[in-house]
Amino acid sequence: MLIDHFGRVHDYLRISLTDVCNFRCTYCMAEENMRFMPPANLMQAHEIDTIAHEFIKMGINKIRLTGGEPLIRKDASEILLSLSKYPIKLTLTTNGTEVKNLIPVFKQAGIRAINVSLDTLQKEKFFEITRRNEFDKVWDNIHLLIAEGFHVKVNTVVMRGVNEDEIPNFIEWTKNQPVHVRFIEFMPFAGNQWNNQKVFSYQEILDTAALKYNFIRMNDEANETAKKFKPYNHQGTFAVISTMTAPFCSSCNRMRLTADGKMKNCLFSKGEVDILGALRKGEDIVPLIKECVLDKSEALGGQFSGDYQKVDASKITNRSMINIGG
Ligand code: 5AD
Ligand code: SF4
Repeated sequence: MLIDHFGRVHDYLRISLTDVCNFRCTYCMAEENMRFMPPANLMQAHEIDTIAHEFIKMGINKIRLTGGEPLIRKDASEILLSLSKYPIKLTLTTNGTEVKNLIPVFKQAGIRAINVSLDTLQKEKFFEITRRNEFDKVWDNIHLLIAEGFHVKVNTVVMRGVNEDEIPNFIEWTKNQPVHVRFIEFMPFAGNQWNNQKVFSYQEILDTAALKYNFIRMNDEANETAKKFKPYNHQGTFAVISTMTAPFCSSCNRMRLTADGKMKNCLFSKGEVDILGALRKGEDIVPLIKECVLDKSEALGGQFSGDYQKVDASKITNRSMINIGG
């Protein structure tokens, strides 16, 4: 088992398949000078399988594929199917543009739950945020996934002055659809123009929701990052991921692999361990993985305190979100 210095068992791995995306969400990547990784630096399908297998032997029971946009990789199906042979919960986070043709593959790979990112229900605003005119496609694909029986969570990054006014509309959506909306507090990453004024907090999200809806708090599952709520008589639910105002580091069970095979023990960790480089040199990656887990800070990568009002984004050393992998 992978246990860190604070007694946290690490059994969940998030693997980024690529740092390329067909969208240009402003909160995820810098507007200029985005340099993508050279293809030769990316983990190949068989390398992903080998590395994942080592993690699984050390007790990992859940893998999420992320990006960039994981499904724009030509061999996404191959990777999904190869990982499906392991006794793990396999899932993914996608922007939703490419899911239609892959539904049979998802089913074959035993995927039950899928997270789709969607920050607005308005076409024009969708274009402003993503720089792509794909609202209808994403909207239709979310409903297609629901109709096909997948458990669909929608990730919505809430930014003051951008989309906080849509919180009630998102909750309204959960009335007649079994969709699970997760409002995410805006987090600071390289080049994403974050400042603490733009954070719309957990409490503000709840207060906004309470103006229009009655809801009850649901029980947390183990290692849950989202605080979940069930509006009265709705088919779906909503939740808040309060990374900035109420971090959940004390129960963290996750590790990350970037698309170029670097391991990060925290979304906000400064350090990275080159797992792919070691694998390609024929070295044993197991001690590297263990060391990386033991190196994990108690909270927020050791980079800032829980008080987001005091965070100075320019002092944080990190990749952009798209380079890390959501
Ligand atoms: N703050 C919060 N969430 C973010 N995501 C990307 N960038 C940020 C950010 N700066 C989310 C996306 C996606 C998930 C993988 O991470 O909305 O759903
Ligand atoms: Fe692409 Fe997702 Fe980043 Fe938007 S948030 S640019 S969809 S990876």
